[in-house]
Amino acid sequence: IVVLSALLCFVTTTDQRNSTNAFYYGVLPENFTWGASTAAYQIEGAWNEDGKSENIWDRFCHEGGHIVMNLTGDVTCDSYHKWRDDITTMNEIGLKHYRFSLSWSRIVPDPTTGVVNEAGVNFYLNFITAVKQAGIEPMVTLFHWDLPQILEDNGSWGNETIIKQYQHYADVAFSRFGHLVKYWLTFNEPWVTTWMGYGTGQYAPGTKQPATLPYLYAHTIIKCHATAWRLYDTTYRARFNGMVSITLNTNFYAPKNSSKPEDVEAAERAAQFMVGWFAHPIYVDGDYSQVMKDYVRRNTNSTDGSSRLPTFTDTDKLFIKGTFDYFGLNHYTTSLCEPSDAAHQASVPKGYLGDMEVKLTVDPTWPKSPSGSYIVPWGMRGILNFIRTHYNNTPVIVTENGLSDPNGTLNDQFRIQYLRSYIDELIKAVLIDKCNVIGYTVWTLMDNFEWTSAITKKMGLYYVDFDDPQRRRVAKQSAMWYKRVIADRGFPD
Ligand code: NOJ
Repeated sequence: IVVLSALLCFVTTTDQRNSTNAFYYGVLPENFTWGASTAAYQIEGAWNEDGKSENIWDRFCHEGGHIVMNLTGDVTCDSYHKWRDDITTMNEIGLKHYRFSLSWSRIVPDPTTGVVNEAGVNFYLNFITAVKQAGIEPMVTLFHWDLPQILEDNGSWGNETIIKQYQHYADVAFSRFGHLVKYWLTFNEPWVTTWMGYGTGQYAPGTKQPATLPYLYAHTIIKCHATAWRLYDTTYRARFNGMVSITLNTNFYAPKNSSKPEDVEAAERAAQFMVGWFAHPIYVDGDYSQVMKDYVRRNTNSTDGSSRLPTFTDTDKLFIKGTFDYFGLNHYTTSLCEPSDAAHQASVPKGYLGDMEVKLTVDPTWPKSPSGSYIVPWGMRGILNFIRTHYNNTPVIVTENGLSDPNGTLNDQFRIQYLRSYIDELIKAVLIDKCNVIGYTVWTLMDNFEWTSAITKKMGLYYVDFDDPQRRRVAKQSAMWYKRVIADRGFPD
């Protein structure tokens, strides 16, 4: 079986969509790390306890009208009080690492004064210490979308004072938890923060300025990221020897028809707008990719040749380039790409999406999960190869990958099939294509507050009963299946 599938995979390396559906068998090295992921707003609850200030997701949910059934993350999994139960589940699965985020507004409730909330620091110190004592590596995200409301009111990511405020927050985190943390992530999915928060307005704070704000805010976020990485590098690396990165979300962008050069180009352009927006400055040369600069400028359509995409100075470029120790990747699905036509251009808002000039579609024959996501395992192999070739085979940790159940069943065979087939493709990418992948993380440890879908989307390895005041965590079949995968380091024969 091994020889046969290796042969089949070899033949299909150039166009992964022909990948066989047969299971692949392979085992990853001992030091490959396996984990599960969560985020502060989605699991903690305790939204106004022990000195925590309001953040933009608190405000957005409380406002009403944005979230299914107007639910909120006020309590959710109540991990602020039930974190010991979370560690029990991590132990049960045998996780090597656990990815979670810190709440900025719990640690520095008013970033304009910079006063540190010791209760918030102690909460995380106790938690991280216990995770570490359980033999699990904490993987800490500094920012997973929950901006302190005070900063939003102060000009948000458009007010560059936020760079110093973010630096201060990162400094508190590095200095107080650095001795316990090996993996850091500065930002989770800045594409979502900027595009969905300030472009489409579907996510907090619900601002709809698709033509301008996403580019401006992303520009500041890239500078914040570089500032935090440099702070760690100069002040903490020698002492703590950790790794700092950013987590970027991206589909795999495949040409609709791979024998059409214009579709191949469209796929490359989509990837440059999506993952390259952040990755090109950080991993390549300190600046946006040429294709992104060209397409935003031509769509800005100004008389003086100016562009809606801001520019980095030479000093910025030097400061940003190379600010990584690995590549954090969140990957779920794939899109097909072809050049946009007039009708499609007219259907998307002017700004980011229109600038890209790509029509994104799916193949309707792709299998779909009961909750509507397209399941395209070969896209995992495709995106890992894209990172290998575009970003110099930087070590990659897949920081998220997963699927939701429609109804929270404990017998979640669909999730098992999804994870099995995506991990298969990751193993092929490592063993056959020599992609430098060093870790994999399931989204998510337990059912939690899935943003605007709230608790109606169930993505956990553990089931949480939100009607039960104890919020008991119950293992789904996928949790015990994943335990086996971790123990076996993949899929031996
Ligand atoms: C991306 C986000 O980082 C996470 O917060 C979210 O719950 C998952 N993907 C699933 O949608």
